[in-house]
Amino acid sequence: MVHTQGVVERPGRLGRIQSEARRLLERDVLTCDQDMIRSYRDSDAERCCEIVIACLPLLTDMNKAARDWVRAKNVPEAVNRELSSLFTVVYTEGDLVVGFGALAEAEVKRVYIDPAHQHRGIGTLLVTTLEEEAVRRRLRSVHLTSRPDAVSFYLELGYSIDDRETYIIDGAEFTVVHMQKPLPFTANLAT
Ligand SMILES: CC(C)(COP(=O)(O)OP(=O)(O)OC[C@H]1O[C@@H](n2cnc3c(N)ncnc32)[C@H](O)[C@@H]1OP(=O)(O)O)[C@@H](O)C(=O)NCCC(=O)NCCS
Repeated sequence: MVHTQGVVERPGRLGRIQSEARRLLERDVLTCDQDMIRSYRDSDAERCCEIVIACLPLLTDMNKAARDWVRAKNVPEAVNRELSSLFTVVYTEGDLVVGFGALAEAEVKRVYIDPAHQHRGIGTLLVTTLEEEAVRRRLRSVHLTSRPDAVSFYLELGYSIDDRETYIIDGAEFTVVHMQKPLPFTANLAT
């Protein structure tokens, strides 16, 4: 399924995204005019899997069994089934997808940036885009489940910590931190 309700088709929201992009450009973190955020397409699934797999060596807060579990789950067919059913956006450089993120009802999830492109503001831009969609849907808050190592990224974006838990699936141990962020009330009233 291809999303037809793309970010690029919404002038009001695009304007706000461009403002955020301009702010990041001023910080010299985003550099190319052709770079853009657009809606996820089925044909992005393979590249999204590549990005997740490329991130795995960085996920040192997971044990090996957990990383293997993530690797096994992130195959194109399953990833496409999930991402195409959500409000998913990708960030591209030229034709190459370098990051993606999704909104599932009020949950921000699946935010992954290619390690070669991290720390340039792309994660911030994607999460901001998902929050703007949540505002458009008149949600009062968004929530997410973060890895411990990514908590400071979300704290920077105004999220606060609810609680933390550890669970085990087939020997794979996951410690996760539940976080949430209220959305501005006045913005909730905007169309
Ligand atoms: C977490 C992640 C999405 C951040 O994306 P990004 O594009 O690098 O983030 P930004 O450049 O917008 O970062 C903004 C700020 O957040 C913080 N930050 C970013 N990545 C961080 C990380 N991995 N750990 C801690 N803080 C981080 C930093 O303060 C950063 O500012 P700086 O680059 O000036 O230091 C990215 O590192 C990633 O894909 N990680 C692997 C998958 C993952 O953990 N996903 C999210 C949780 S499940």
